[in-house]
Amino acid sequence: MNILVLHGPNLNLLGEREPEIYGRLTLAQLNARLRRHARERGAALRIFQDNCEGRLIDLIHANRRWADGMVLNPGAYTHYSYALRDAVTVVRVPTVEVHLSDVQRREAFRRKSVIAPACVAVFSGRGVDSYLDAIDRLSKPVSP
Ligand code: DQA
Repeated sequence: MNILVLHGPNLNLLGEREPEIYGRLTLAQLNARLRRHARERGAALRIFQDNCEGRLIDLIHANRRWADGMVLNPGAYTHYSYALRDAVTVVRVPTVEVHLSDVQRREAFRRKSVIAPACVAVFSGRGVDSYLDAIDRLSKPVSP
């Protein structure tokens, strides 16, 4: 099982970015947790962070034949990037959208995801566990 993990804009500053919302874990620490969790489940990870919409799309394209699944935290692109949603649809890699914070309980603009309809699931508001749940969801065999 190969899983592509993509972190979108501003997630490089985890740890110092609004820690009361996003926690004190740095991106490197978060990624270490993801790698350990994936290893225990026999899954291989490729992890990238990018602040640019186009580069995130390029990463989805470039990894489309390798990835059996994708964990995507699109950051604020969640709420308006039809280009990222199209990329998820185009590659047909089962994708789980994740958020560290509970986007349903924040500002109104965060309640809408334009990407979620292209995804198999959304996990939100559980911090690192949102990502771990996504890995578990993708590692489970799909029922016929
Ligand atoms: C986020 C939620 C988004 O609304 C926000 O723009 C982010 C992070 C989250 O992980 O909670 O950048 O995706």
